[in-house]
Amino acid sequence: MLPKIDFTETAAYRYLADHYIRINEHSLKDLFAADDFRFEKYSIEFNDLLLDYSKNRVNDETLALLRQLAKECQLSEAIEAMFQGEKINETEGRQVLHTALRNQSGKAIFVDGQDVMKDVNAVLAQMESFTNRILSGEWKGYTGKTITDVVNVGIGGSDLGPVMVTEALKAYRTHLNMHFVSNVDGTHIAEAIKNLDPETTLFLIASKTFTTQETMANANTARDWFLESGAQQTDVAKHFAALSTNTAAVAAFGIDTKNMFQFWDWVGGRYSLWSAIGLSISLAVGFDHFKELLTGAFEADEHFRTAAFEENIPVTLALLGIWYNNFFEAESHAILPYDQYLHRFAAYFQQGDMESNGKCVDRNGNAVDYQTGPIIWGEPGTNGQHAFYQLIHQGTKLIPCDFIAPAISLNPIGKHHQMLLSNFFAQTEALMNGKSEEVVVAELRAAGKSEEEIEKLKAFKVFEGNRPSNSILLKKVTPRSLGTLVALYEHKIFVQGIIWNVFSFDQWGVELGKQLAGQILPELESEDIITTHDSSTNGLINQYKAWRVS
Ligand code: F6P
Repeated sequence: MLPKIDFTETAAYRYLADHYIRINEHSLKDLFAADDFRFEKYSIEFNDLLLDYSKNRVNDETLALLRQLAKECQLSEAIEAMFQGEKINETEGRQVLHTALRNQSGKAIFVDGQDVMKDVNAVLAQMESFTNRILSGEWKGYTGKTITDVVNVGIGGSDLGPVMVTEALKAYRTHLNMHFVSNVDGTHIAEAIKNLDPETTLFLIASKTFTTQETMANANTARDWFLESGAQQTDVAKHFAALSTNTAAVAAFGIDTKNMFQFWDWVGGRYSLWSAIGLSISLAVGFDHFKELLTGAFEADEHFRTAAFEENIPVTLALLGIWYNNFFEAESHAILPYDQYLHRFAAYFQQGDMESNGKCVDRNGNAVDYQTGPIIWGEPGTNGQHAFYQLIHQGTKLIPCDFIAPAISLNPIGKHHQMLLSNFFAQTEALMNGKSEEVVVAELRAAGKSEEEIEKLKAFKVFEGNRPSNSILLKKVTPRSLGTLVALYEHKIFVQGIIWNVFSFDQWGVELGKQLAGQILPELESEDIITTHDSSTNGLINQYKAWRVS
């Protein structure tokens, strides 16, 4: 069981509230001026990854108090409860054991008295053998041709992780062409399959529950398209595999359960890329690279479990996030990878973070009277600089940012990487230091502007600065470093959920819309005028019906 402590009632929280008033009197610039060793003190190196958190509005006292807050919220006990397989997902009565999927310690992990590592390793072996058979061409389609294209059909955690990782590891790709279909909008599957050959295409139907409306609709359309090519029902076995926890539903769909890759209800959807859901990753980059991804994540798990809070990357990232979210009232958090391969990283953690900690009821079942999960967003640099950075630099909102970049490019062309990284370094410096009125005036004078023009312009050109950021420098994007990075972020989310006293592993908030869509669908199928909803919903539905027949 997880602790159920209201963090706003702790002594550390009260001290932090006081301390916030004092730290607010100092800018980041002052903090750097007062301490020559901020970088050395406020950076952590782990597994070819460096976290520099020195450009945050903290000092030794802040960090000590934040760590005290974690202690008072019994964070260490909660971490152990997760790793030990306690049923910490209480509202669903489940364990939270995505860490077992990448456990390479050789130690047993028990669920209801049974060691799950045997099953985990058996599915990994099945994935390895399947991947190798497809890649070697030994696996043939129904007309004897080898597979050239793989379509992963899934949504949410059954899509975002595989998409993010296969994009991030594009440099390690096998010869297979990968496609991902998630949206129930028919356009998605129509565009994905329009140039594909059913004889050489493999569909992976990825769904933990095997009941998700979008995935089932797309899976049915994929099967119809396949059968329309002249294939028989018995040929489905050569072109469809299922990644799921629901054997009965897989069989009912008509997929041979020999082609089913199992996972378990103790794997949350948004934490499932490490499971059979990762089969598309394994096919895209080869099983050995998939295994390295797991290794990197396992190493991050060990770090999270054993490192002291002072040296612990997920704990540090989480506490800094709480500092801004609950004391500075920051509403969002930007993830800004300076690596084109990581262009879906922020989108992936939008689900990871917002579906986990977007909760307003605490673990005691009471409405919270404090802020929980932030809005997560972001796009790769340098593109973002030419889109939304204006607001980060000069807008009215405080937006803590994580800047992520590899030191070594996988595409070292000319000076591109140095240019990219010069922007990566420049942005955090600019956010921190800003530009004073004095400097603005001197620059305008040097540019030959008149005193009148300077007076008119200077206010617009001042940057207040004092805007916090973390920098995460990776040596290189590899399967292993990516595994580490993703797992560190997963654990950051866990820590924040513990301190905010919410259940991070359910997602009841996505149910209402699904339920209502289920009620509305038959109304769209009828020709009747709809009057069962509010006037807005009725009006929209009826206008849609009028237009679709005209
Ligand atoms: O959107 C809700 C959700 O349950 C996610 O948590 C999950 O990742 C997604 O739907 C897909 O679910 P499934 O894998 O069961 O199709």
